[in-house]
Amino acid sequence: CRFAKVRHAGPMLSLDNAFSGEDVAGFLQQMRNFLGLPENTEFAVTAEPKIDGLSMSLRYERRKLVMAATRGDGEEGENVTANILTVKNIPHELPASAPDLIEIRGEIYLSTQDFADLNAALVAAGEKPLANPRNGAAGSLRQQDASITASRPLKFFAYSWGEAPELPGETQWDVVQAFKGWGLPVNPLMALCHSGAEILAHYRRIEAMRASLGYDIDGVVYKLNDLALQKRLGFRTRSPRWAIAHKFSAEQATTVLEAIDIQVGRTGALTPVARLRPV
Ligand code: IVH
Repeated sequence: CRFAKVRHAGPMLSLDNAFSGEDVAGFLQQMRNFLGLPENTEFAVTAEPKIDGLSMSLRYERRKLVMAATRGDGEEGENVTANILTVKNIPHELPASAPDLIEIRGEIYLSTQDFADLNAALVAAGEKPLANPRNGAAGSLRQQDASITASRPLKFFAYSWGEAPELPGETQWDVVQAFKGWGLPVNPLMALCHSGAEILAHYRRIEAMRASLGYDIDGVVYKLNDLALQKRLGFRTRSPRWAIAHKFSAEQATTVLEAIDIQVGRTGALTPVARLRPV
């Protein structure tokens, strides 16, 4: 194993998925039920792109970046501090207004253009191209030689936190705005919505921008704004009750079936595999 293991102070959770407006209405209703609120209660909810990258936990002690860890299995990740110190939009230090201890969580990603450039360079060097920007980001980060990571234009968006004894706000929105004030990159498309209708309108706005954002996203994440209510709602086994990922339907395109290969499995099972013209 190439990187040292680190146990997360608090687990790095995943999110439940919603695939339709009805699923989103169900999410809001579940929160009302759990909190004992009447049916017509509207919530303040943040809505922001779900970045298709790698989740990362950045631990700042005395305002210095002392540890960066991958998600791993959620309980234990890998220590990639040396590599993360080369990511240009991650500050090594936070300003005096930041608390003594905070773990900032967010996503490491490669832009679509930087991914295309990286693949062109790999192919020119006679190496195998990578499947997508997410794999490109993972491969760029998991380098034993941090100078290789430094040569890759990885970027970061901050959207959450782990251990944080002193939070700079009482709402999701205010905490993330404070992150921004400390010089951390936050997504410009994060919005504060005040009703189910506003949430879905922002989803459609982001969906319409998806192809022109310059980085891969696979949905919109909604988080209940009020942190006191988040605390009351708490968690299921692996995901918070106060957040959900509203996924986009898979991008569709038409292409040509060029051939059908028959793969022979170890047990002799035959599996037909379509060879499609790339789109
Ligand atoms: S919030 C407790 N916000 O999606 C909430 N996650 O399926 C923690 N992700 O592991 C996650 N963009 O890596 C959150 N704006 C966003 C996100 C986001 C991407 C990833 C994250 C997480 C996974 C959950």
